[in-house]
Amino acid sequence: MCGIVGYIGHRDAYPIVLKGLQRLEYRGYDSAGIALYDGQELNLCKTKGKVADLKAKFEEGTSTKGNIGIGHTRWATHGVPNDVNSHPHYSNSENLVIIHNGIIENYSSLKKELVKRGYTFQSDTDTEVLINLIEDVMVKEDVKLGKAVQIALNQTIGAYAITVFDKRKPNELIVARLGSPLAIGIGEDEFFIASDASPFIEFTSNVIYLEDGEMAVIRRNKGIKVRKIQDDSLVDPYVQELKMNLEQIEKGGYDHFMLKEIYEQPNAIKDTYRGRMLVDKGIIKMSGVDDNIERLANAKRIIIVACGTSWHAGLVAEYIFEDLARIPVEVEYASEFRYRNPVIYENDVVIAISQSGETADTMAAIKLAKEKGAFVFGVCNVVGSSISRETHAGAYTHAGPEIGVASTKAFTTQITVLTMMALKLAKYKGAISDSQFRFHLQELERIPAKITRVLETSNDHIKEIADKYKNTPNCLYLGRGFNFPVALEGALKLKEISYIHAEGYPAAEMKHGPIALIDEQMPVVVIATKKGHYDKVVSNIQEIKSRKGKIIGIVTEGDEEVRNLADYVIEIPETIESLTPLLTTIPLQLLSYHIAVMLGRNVDQPRNLAKSVTVE
Ligand code: F6R
Repeated sequence: MCGIVGYIGHRDAYPIVLKGLQRLEYRGYDSAGIALYDGQELNLCKTKGKVADLKAKFEEGTSTKGNIGIGHTRWATHGVPNDVNSHPHYSNSENLVIIHNGIIENYSSLKKELVKRGYTFQSDTDTEVLINLIEDVMVKEDVKLGKAVQIALNQTIGAYAITVFDKRKPNELIVARLGSPLAIGIGEDEFFIASDASPFIEFTSNVIYLEDGEMAVIRRNKGIKVRKIQDDSLVDPYVQELKMNLEQIEKGGYDHFMLKEIYEQPNAIKDTYRGRMLVDKGIIKMSGVDDNIERLANAKRIIIVACGTSWHAGLVAEYIFEDLARIPVEVEYASEFRYRNPVIYENDVVIAISQSGETADTMAAIKLAKEKGAFVFGVCNVVGSSISRETHAGAYTHAGPEIGVASTKAFTTQITVLTMMALKLAKYKGAISDSQFRFHLQELERIPAKITRVLETSNDHIKEIADKYKNTPNCLYLGRGFNFPVALEGALKLKEISYIHAEGYPAAEMKHGPIALIDEQMPVVVIATKKGHYDKVVSNIQEIKSRKGKIIGIVTEGDEEVRNLADYVIEIPETIESLTPLLTTIPLQLLSYHIAVMLGRNVDQPRNLAKSVTVE
């Protein structure tokens, strides 16, 4: 949540910071602000709304000069999204200015103390408390900015990635992180700061990802000093080479990132299994699994923790692991797991799934599982993310940057990783025959081409269906077995980007209550593929039809039975049952996308949401 950007060097800071904020806008878009130092004055402009609103306001009356600057795009936590609560925030003297991603949990007690000492506050934010605490330490203890930041942070409880600037020391920026990501790009006599590396990929490929509990003093022409916040010890930072390129983070001719990411799925899935799944040799190589095979295969139980779409991928994985590897699986919302004193044994394996690798609840669940002695395996997309570093082992999805707030390719690549993992464990345990194992590999290898076929053949038809139902206030999604979680995911996609109320259910649960909702207005999307309780699902369709509900069936190519019952059908190619979620989810993504576009919604940045949920 929230994106931060900073620049110190020889170029104009404004265009770099502004473009950086545009690239980080997926992290929050309630408000935005930039502060620039032009050599004499600190020029600050901030506004409620998007980065585009900030640009208009800034260029109306604020000087864009200066080669040091910081910027922020906000997902509101403390205080409503308005101009005053936007970042950057000044200290009382207006010498210091800060941008902050995270939450200072003890801000209210700190604020009381500062008020007693005469400080005043313009905003309702925790961030303004932090910058005044830093100022107070500077004055009281007569220390330099870096030291004051360190002392102040040691008094806080919470999470942060911050950048602080003092206009009396115009050649340095101080940054620090705990729980929220912070990357430093290193160029020739210039430095870039950002919540992820996307704001600076065209300038440098050398990056330091600060670790939790580290801070850095960045000096123009002098370099970087990294220290531990807690004990002041010096750290030798690891400079990594960036693998991201500009094309990956641009829309590439698509109207929205979400659409681009839906269409990227065939290649994303290939990237997920490339080099790991050697179909000719009949093997899967995954170093995170290979290195821990005993521990994983002998797990008495697997507990999957995740949130949102990643939780849905976990539910699909439950079916896959139990079916193939015969290991019992429980799937938990990370936010519930972390607070309910769960029973965890040492021979439990916890799998944490997270696209961003930064989700606060998932991170807390991992820490709890580790404390209780479990082995924790991470499935993340963002390389070097907090979760990927906190887990004992893991496997990246390699989906490439996912920028649309609604998760699409992350979901299908997570299922791909988890399928390969389950297959490996099944083979190791002898729970699957060699020929079955090979057959699964061959089928998985065919999935990208089958997704391409769905995209090519059904997009226009899905647009028609979207047009027909775009004004519905409600929608139901039904599926069974491996496709029950896909129904949940389909409903989530529609809710989050079109704001239409939608619910997913296991098809057979309808008769236990939800069937009361059915009338001639209610569209019901039913996943009714040939493999997987087909006859039972057809009976469920009959039940809905006899109550005049409208059926949109997701069916296997050539299906006639559901076609005769349904108002619309969308066909997917045949595959083995456990892999059907990789295909059935595609039309549901497209359906919600087209409905949202037709309703004029902001598809890539739906209201109230942010891509990376680094707060509880
Ligand atoms: C929905 C969506 C969210 C995320 C959830 C977890 O489209 O994107 O529900 O899936 O916030 O995020 P990660 O996977 O980054 O932990």
